[in-house]
Amino acid sequence: MILGIETSCDETASALVSADGEVLASVVSSQADLHARFGGVVPEIASRRHLELVTPVVREALAEAGATLADVDRIAVTQGPGLVGALLVGLAAAKGMAWARRLPLVPVDHLRGHVASLYLQPDPLEPPFLCLLASGGHTLLLDIRDHASHAILGTTIDDAAGEAFDKGARLLGLGYPGGAELDRLAAHGDPTAYEFPVARVPGLDFSFSGVKTALLYATKELSEDELAARRADLAASYQRAIVRALVERVSEAAAQTGAKRIAIVGGVAANSALRAALPEAKAAALEYCTDNAAMIASAGRYVEAVPYPRYLALDAYASAEV
Ligand code: KG4
Ligand code: ZN
Repeated sequence: MILGIETSCDETASALVSADGEVLASVVSSQADLHARFGGVVPEIASRRHLELVTPVVREALAEAGATLADVDRIAVTQGPGLVGALLVGLAAAKGMAWARRLPLVPVDHLRGHVASLYLQPDPLEPPFLCLLASGGHTLLLDIRDHASHAILGTTIDDAAGEAFDKGARLLGLGYPGGAELDRLAAHGDPTAYEFPVARVPGLDFSFSGVKTALLYATKELSEDELAARRADLAASYQRAIVRALVERVSEAAAQTGAKRIAIVGGVAANSALRAALPEAKAAALEYCTDNAAMIASAGRYVEAVPYPRYLALDAYASAEV
């Protein structure tokens, strides 16, 4: 049994996953409400909250699985990328628990964790496949060759797709993080009401800063009343522009690599329009799209564990190492 711990941003999460990828327990405590009034995650607040929550969340995961630490064979924890203070809380907790029970520890890359959400039961996907990873912090097109390695085919040159959703949501007066709320509002709007251009950049890269500016200008032209009346149309059109850009790039990458299977992971993979636009793609289960620890424990099955007590020297990293 693998115990997973995730604290890279504003979710404190713990999960228990079996060696063959069955999720025995998955607990996610979101701090979103705590950060909402600041319009984004405040790193210092996130670290302090993780510190309060990490032990109770691990306890709850163990209770949900009907297990104790004595049943755990290894501990997988997110090492990076993310907020360094937040990561350090999870890493220190994992080190402490592993050390106390002389267990091996597996440092997991958060992005590989998102990909490993696809390896969970009941319907695991086997590499090779082409993977779109779209979250609040990253937008990557990955050529997944096997469970432990991949090549980056494309990335964003400015905002991440989830960031574009969040900034758009903010312009439309929705809460933070607004991706899911914008998705819900868009269901009541006309996606062809506005033509929002998405910049095409060379290769297989993405750019989302322009579409956000286009939405800003569109909202500025409207009075308060008009904006209220057109909000759903704006949301639907904005969402369509982002989804179209993502789908176009995925199709191009599939054509270039000859990939037969396509998968989508990360918070934006929860978007209903994106899922509908890629019906043939395998999307991560909804509950494992946004940050969670089941995906971290899943990735921990394919990464070599660091033996006791060598992992005590491990450090967190803020930016992507992949
Ligand atoms: O993977 P994730 O939980 O955290 C990162 O690793 O960044 O992704 C969070 C992002 C946020 O930007 C959030 O607004 C977005 O995923 N998101 C969505 C939806 N659900 C979450 N974006 C669009 N539609 C959704 N349904
Ligand atoms: Zn994430």
